[in-house]
Amino acid sequence: MPSASPAAADPVESVRAALLDWYDRHARSLPWRTPPGDAAPVDPYRVWLSEVMLQQTTTVHAAPYFAAFTRRWPTVADLAAAADDEVMSAWAGLGYYARARNMLKGARAVASGHAGVFPDTEAALLALPGVGPYTAAAVASIAFGRAANVVDGNVERVMARLFAVETPLPAARTQLRALAARFVSDHRPGDWAQALMDLGATVCRPRTPDCGVCPVAFACEGLASGEPARFPVRAPKAERPRRTGVAWVLRDAAGRVALVRRPAKGLLGGMLGLPTSDWTAGPDQPPPAAPAVADWIDAGTVEHVFTHFSLTLSVRVGRGEGGDWIWTEEAGALTSLPTVFAKALIASSRA
Ligand code: ADE
Repeated sequence: MPSASPAAADPVESVRAALLDWYDRHARSLPWRTPPGDAAPVDPYRVWLSEVMLQQTTTVHAAPYFAAFTRRWPTVADLAAAADDEVMSAWAGLGYYARARNMLKGARAVASGHAGVFPDTEAALLALPGVGPYTAAAVASIAFGRAANVVDGNVERVMARLFAVETPLPAARTQLRALAARFVSDHRPGDWAQALMDLGATVCRPRTPDCGVCPVAFACEGLASGEPARFPVRAPKAERPRRTGVAWVLRDAAGRVALVRRPAKGLLGGMLGLPTSDWTAGPDQPPPAAPAVADWIDAGTVEHVFTHFSLTLSVRVGRGEGGDWIWTEEAGALTSLPTVFAKALIASSRA
């Protein structure tokens, strides 16, 4: 990083000063956030909950879930006391359902092991179930003002550009973390972490960095190289494998839909789902047996992309009664099903 700042001789300090100053003026207003300079105490429950939700999810997508959760469960003790099924249903649509189960374990550990009070150090937060290095650092800095190195994908990208790191991801992770650590300080640690996230989300964007308005452009080696968007360099991606399966939409005379509770372990574990076949690696499989006797009508296919594979699900629609199903009103099913099944349910109206 060149030491070209007029503001301060130390390039780390000049970048910190410029970015914090930018954050004071441009911080995004987000429902879980205390604006810079606001003296109101920060509620660690809200910070923790938002950080768990924001892993793998955009702020726009997470915001209504955050509002719903904090309205329904205003404190960590309320969340800890909630029934698993209710929390899993409220989480439906956010994806990565193992996170929701771990979140509940974390809430219960705070409620029972810490008398409902979040521990206030990075190390003690890290000891909570479901809290990894990212979340521990984020809560320690944002809620408790502790100097902690908060490194998410935004921060990795900003560091990779600022220092024009040629090592490709994921191998570069350790190096990017060490670069980010240079900027960590006892001075406004929570604002610093969130300023980096905001810069990454709104200016130092993945494909289209807006270097013309970047407060740290003066120090950016990626920009100096003429190709800032080339960073972070990525190792070529293996293509996602494709799997196929069948989902059955069985309705009774009242129009209710037959659902199942998925096994606790595994993909979408513990969530409500439509009955499906196994999701197999190729289309050349024998046709799977339907879960009930009915005149099944073909309603076409839906596509869904999971982290490790893409799924093509054929949707079949039929009528039936009784059986060992969780019969659920259509509207309720739509809101409490994971997205892949909600897509199949919507597609079933084509039949
Ligand atoms: N992404 C993850 N955590 C965030 C936060 N606290 N503010 C903005 N974006 C985020």
